[in-house]
Amino acid sequence: MATSPTSGAFPGPFTITRTKVFLLVSLALTWWFASLFPHYKPVIQETFKARLNDALLKLPSIQVDWDTSVEVSEAYNASKVAIIIEPRPLPHLVPHILYMMNVVPPEWRFVFIGSKGSVTGMEESAAVKHRQIIGKLDLMVLPEPWEIDSKEKVFRTLTDIRFYDEFLPGVEYLLKYEADSILCANSEDSLNDWLDWDFVGAPRRADDHFAGNGGLSLRRVSTIKRVLSFQARLNDSDPEDEWFGKRVYVLPGAKVASGVEEALAVEDVYREGAMGYHVRDGGNNIADAVWKQPEQRKKIFQYCPELTMIMEMKLERQRCPGDKGTGRE
Ligand SMILES: *[C@@H]1O[C@H](CO)[C@@H](O)[C@H](O)[C@H]1NC(C)=O
Ligand SMILES: *[C@@H]1O[C@H](CO)[C@@H](O)[C@H](O)[C@H]1NC(C)=O
Repeated sequence: MATSPTSGAFPGPFTITRTKVFLLVSLALTWWFASLFPHYKPVIQETFKARLNDALLKLPSIQVDWDTSVEVSEAYNASKVAIIIEPRPLPHLVPHILYMMNVVPPEWRFVFIGSKGSVTGMEESAAVKHRQIIGKLDLMVLPEPWEIDSKEKVFRTLTDIRFYDEFLPGVEYLLKYEADSILCANSEDSLNDWLDWDFVGAPRRADDHFAGNGGLSLRRVSTIKRVLSFQARLNDSDPEDEWFGKRVYVLPGAKVASGVEEALAVEDVYREGAMGYHVRDGGNNIADAVWKQPEQRKKIFQYCPELTMIMEMKLERQRCPGDKGTGRE
């Protein structure tokens, strides 16, 4: 064939004098040709089509059997890991982790530690499977005798030096987040701006000398291990973040975030432009100082709409008559 079906649809500079009738005829012809070859899509612009074809050629076959191990390991920095420990098979775990992977800088890997139930739930997602295949994500059920089925057991795990040696070898920067914490994509900061801190999370009070609340926090593993090399947490004592906080704070040479301005996250104390939020218990146990005022709440959701993913919410029309918009009365 001398002319390709698509060229007729887009007249070049030499056809300007031709009538519209000819155009219509050529269009009709194009469609006729196209009907002979069902895979032709003549309405797509040539350049776009060329790019599309290029991209299609580069796509792997449906079966995932290519070996990308070399490229993949080079794409990540082995010292940076974001970790979440969650035994409950919560419905938002999959979208949440996929979202977090897009906000945390690309060289970070993710580790999800769960129960059989929560890990199985994650594995059912094709998008999660893909992240596993490219080495971005590890899903783990810890072997015996490790346990994570209560907060106290998670605290024991995180204050056991063997946990870091066994499951996070080579990791130095650890972003610990929970199912009810989230980074805000609108933040001007990158997680990588915080790497020289030894422990940074959220302050507990406006005059807190240490922003150590750990629901969304970044820790240096070498510092954690330094503490654990000479201190042991008593069972059923302080939560792990408080326990570490007290010790990292007085550790010689450690750089800890103090006060509000140096906080990574908002939990009990509001700050504009925070990198992220921790809303305890999915919003069922949150601080008035952050959430009570309707205007401030509106501002928070405008800045960080992703919060709706991790908070239990009611529709405006579900409000009670006479309610003052504070969510309390
Ligand atoms: C990994 O990241 C750390 C901190 O940014 C950096 O010092 C180190 O050189 C990186 N490693 C590689 C292999 O890029
Ligand atoms: C603390 O609990 C663990 C089990 O999680 C147990 O192995 C350990 O002996 C307990 N430590 C003390 C001091 O009781």
